Amino acid sequence: MKESVDLDAIFDRFHAPKKPIFKERDFLRATYVPTSLPHRGNEIRGLANILGPIMAGGTPSNAFLYGKPGGGKTVVTKYVINRLHKKAGDVDIKFEFAFINCQMVDTAYRVYAALCEAVNVEVPITGLSTDLIFDSFCKKLDEEPTVLTIILDEVDLLMKTDNKVNSKKMTLLK
Ligand SMILES: Nc1ncnc2c1ncn2[C@@H]1O[C@H](COP(=O)(O)OP(=O)(O)OP(=O)(O)O)[C@@H](O)[C@H]1O
Ligand SMILES: [Mg+2]
Repeated sequence: MKESVDLDAIFDRFHAPKKPIFKERDFLRATYVPTSLPHRGNEIRGLANILGPIMAGGTPSNAFLYGKPGGGKTVVTKYVINRLHKKAGDVDIKFEFAFINCQMVDTAYRVYAALCEAVNVEVPITGLSTDLIFDSFCKKLDEEPTVLTIILDEVDLLMKTDNKVNSKKMTLLK
């Protein structure tokens, strides 16, 4: 039976396009991190210097990045953290990071659950108290010789919700 839609033709067009519209489709993805970020040298340098102590097995200071929408806060953070992760790996320094987008992960419970996931602690998607889940996270963190850097992207959205992340607790994680 002849197909009403020629799926092969559609998929072939993507597989071997005659006249590709996109030179590199991935460049348009929100998650794409360019290999260089023009005009952001100062910001990159600043963040790298704040996170630098990780390379000596130390704890970096907290950083709060703010600026106009689309200015590059997210991409600069990803750029620096990815490079740091690679560099730390090259010299056998245990360094992990948890990148949490608070637009998606929008309650205190879900933030703590994401943190638990980052350190391989299993928690139910709902049901426990935030205190309990946070304690499990801290306990696991204390057992591990790893420095964990937490990035809360779009954190302002989280602060607007009723389920605020307890800032006193987060300060303990410094
Ligand atoms: N210096 C740069 N060079 C190349 N691309 C950049 C640069 N700065 C930002 N971009 C690109 O511009 C887009 C917006 O950047 P980004 O998402 O990092 O901004 P933002 O400050 O986090 O914005 P928002 O406040 O909306 O979260 C992304 O696609 C990013 O890759
Ligand atoms: Mg952003």
